[in-house]
Amino acid sequence: MSFYVTTPIYYVNAAPHLGHAYSTIAADVMARHMRQRGEDVFFLTGTDEHGEPVALAAEREGLTPQELVDRNAPRFVDLMPRLNVSNDFFIRTSDAEHMAKVQEILGRIRDNGHVYEGIYEGWYCPRCADFKTDAEAGDDNLCPIHKTPLTREKEDNYFFRLSAFQDDLLRLLDEQPEFVMPRHRYNEARSFIESGLQDVSLSRSTFTWGVPVPWDEKHVFYVWFDALLNYYTALSYAREGEDLTERFWPAQFHLIGKDILKFHAVFWPAMLLAAGLPLPEHVFVHGFLLIGKDKMGKSAGNAIDPFAIMDEYGTDALRFYLMREVSFGHDGSVSLEGFRARYETELANDLGNLASRTIAMVHRYRDGVVPDAQLDPDLAAEIDGLEGEVRALLDRADLTGAADAIWLRVRRLNRYVEERAPWQLAKDEARAGDLDSVLASLAEALRVVAVLLYPWIPESSAKLLQALGAPQLELASARVQAGRLGAIAKLDQLFPKH
Ligand code: MSP
Repeated sequence: MSFYVTTPIYYVNAAPHLGHAYSTIAADVMARHMRQRGEDVFFLTGTDEHGEPVALAAEREGLTPQELVDRNAPRFVDLMPRLNVSNDFFIRTSDAEHMAKVQEILGRIRDNGHVYEGIYEGWYCPRCADFKTDAEAGDDNLCPIHKTPLTREKEDNYFFRLSAFQDDLLRLLDEQPEFVMPRHRYNEARSFIESGLQDVSLSRSTFTWGVPVPWDEKHVFYVWFDALLNYYTALSYAREGEDLTERFWPAQFHLIGKDILKFHAVFWPAMLLAAGLPLPEHVFVHGFLLIGKDKMGKSAGNAIDPFAIMDEYGTDALRFYLMREVSFGHDGSVSLEGFRARYETELANDLGNLASRTIAMVHRYRDGVVPDAQLDPDLAAEIDGLEGEVRALLDRADLTGAADAIWLRVRRLNRYVEERAPWQLAKDEARAGDLDSVLASLAEALRVVAVLLYPWIPESSAKLLQALGAPQLELASARVQAGRLGAIAKLDQLFPKH
């Protein structure tokens, strides 16, 4: 089966912050898990480089827009390996191949009769690159998101006949109740559509930094139409000489933040319908990382510096924290104190200690060889179903539920160590068989947990599996099996205390 997952493409005129890392790591967890299953995976991320905000920022800095994006895009490109993110391609919407494909698809939408020429007059927020209704502008004409003044725009535009898709979109939501996930976001999308759809601007004619409209070169496409199409265009040129569209389109999951729901749950399916292209299976909407009660963003962006955390604690620690701390699909606060607390309790204590104790005991009591003994049937039963559970949860992008399910077992294993107290068994020669079984059960369960945790903490998990002498990462290997382990290596602290 093929599995195609995407992140939003990031605006290049801001520096990468934790919010960007969040979407990307979440997609990486899904991609890595699906690869473990043996699926044919494609994972896309990239940068959104056109539009008025970029043109304005370039002007302020005395650069051309192209110079500005060429300077800033590498910050995002370089972020990916730094986060240990395994994207298969990085799209930049200034790529010539993307631009040509956008012209082709939007040309098709026009040929299909969904585009007309008109005059747009209304409120516009240059920072959102989005038009606002009178209701959103309110009495003081401020952007509801940025609280900055809106501008009054009047210009020749091409319009996309979004209003014509109202019934189709409602039918889509009826037929595919998981098109938008989680449920509260589905409801939000539905009520937005039910409240009535207006046609939207497809082009702008007051600036030139964008994909030229092929049938009227005075216009460039409105940046959102150009940007949304990245999910589709990338497949056509990600691999030289190969078109991956047939193999991967439609996408299984678009992961997005809640602020861009309207574009993905309304505009995007309407565009695809207008172009006669198949629709993605799911748009999964996650919440915001908050600093206190405020959205973490450009201004509050440095409250937690992802790079400083990774330098000090390692990439896995940051990945793990973000995925554990903020329930996927909801808002959640993040803080340095919260990070340190979770690092200590969960990574250093729960998992780190379990791994070092288990490995140390095998060395101390059995000369570094996991005994080929019968496994404790109760413990084995508690661990053996885990792989199926995680599979089912990740099918629904329930990243939080899956991590919870695994962590329950990590804690269970720590309790098992306390209950069975191998150091007591070791004192009594008559209990040697019991000790064999306890050590074999612990080591095998630890191995299973490490395989399942791989998408969240790939480096540490691989290190642990290496030490256990069982480097297999395939999900199928996450089934409990006696006698699988033999000689094991020593292991340095996975998560040293700070
Ligand atoms: N360029 C558009 C997306 C186009 S997709 C075809 C855009 N870019 S963005 O850089 O502003 O935001 C990208 C993503 O980062 C969005 O999904 C947004 O929700 C997410 N985040 C930005 N700040 C965030 C938090 N504080 N918390 C979680 N995610 C946040 O929108």
